[in-house]
Amino acid sequence: MSYVLAVSGKGGTGKTTVSALLSRLIISRGKGSLLAVDADPNDNLAAAFGVKAERTIGDIIGAVAKNPESVPKGMSKERFLEYEVQSAVQECEGLDLLTMGRPEGPGCYCYVNNILRGVLTKLTADYDFVVIDNEAGLEHLSRKTAGRINLLLTVADATAAGMKAARRVACLADELSLKVDRKTLLVNKCRLCDAPAPEDIGPGMEFLGYLPFDMKVAEAGINGTSLLDLRDGSAALEALEAMEIV
Ligand SMILES: Nc1ncnc2c1ncn2[C@@H]1O[C@H](COP(=O)(O)OP(=O)(O)OP(=O)(O)O)[C@@H](O)[C@H]1O
Ligand SMILES: [Mg+2]
Repeated sequence: MSYVLAVSGKGGTGKTTVSALLSRLIISRGKGSLLAVDADPNDNLAAAFGVKAERTIGDIIGAVAKNPESVPKGMSKERFLEYEVQSAVQECEGLDLLTMGRPEGPGCYCYVNNILRGVLTKLTADYDFVVIDNEAGLEHLSRKTAGRINLLLTVADATAAGMKAARRVACLADELSLKVDRKTLLVNKCRLCDAPAPEDIGPGMEFLGYLPFDMKVAEAGINGTSLLDLRDGSAALEALEAMEIV
């Protein structure tokens, strides 16, 4: 059984950064095999690992929906998609990366999507850990993952509006009946990290702590270098290491 960590939050709060830093933590602790999933259609998790996204699930869906004949004769659509998805898994340093992307152009992808859900569930079960970098908002998450989320990590910025958005996530997770073991909150890009824990963060939401604004992280973002290669002395990474996550 894999341990699934889903990262959510408002746009620009640092979901992709936190997903990449979490991945680095899991790798450096030698915790087991890891699949990182970029579930944001505006894919950029690959960039946080210093690589370019290759083939996406969106490309596969688009190709099959456009040309159903591409499924080889004698092969079920499910088997074919399984094979295609496997070939879209990209190897990075210490982890595998799957980029969801989105299919190009209008069209009905429901049929392919439905098969795909099963294929993805099967794929993720092969890993000890799965880190999912989500697009802002939880509705997408409920559509894409039917399975259990062991840890939902909401990233917020250190403002009143950020806290309000985090509370909304906590409520929404309940409303959408997501199966979540731990609902957690992390406040990112913080300049006052010794501040007390924020109050009233939402029903059942656990406060993990503050991640400081870190020039090394900001520089990696600007230069396009991998967050997996962050050297010691990254204040954000050190703060994440001290949290009870994995
Ligand atoms: N702790 C940090 N210290 C310094 N810069 C950070 C930190 N966390 C994130 N950033 C920077 O903030 C910007 C936004 O971060 P990121 O792309 O991870 O956010 P996001 O929530 O994934 O955004 P989007 O909603 O667009 O997907 C990036 O330039 C990133 O380098
Ligand atoms: Mg992002």
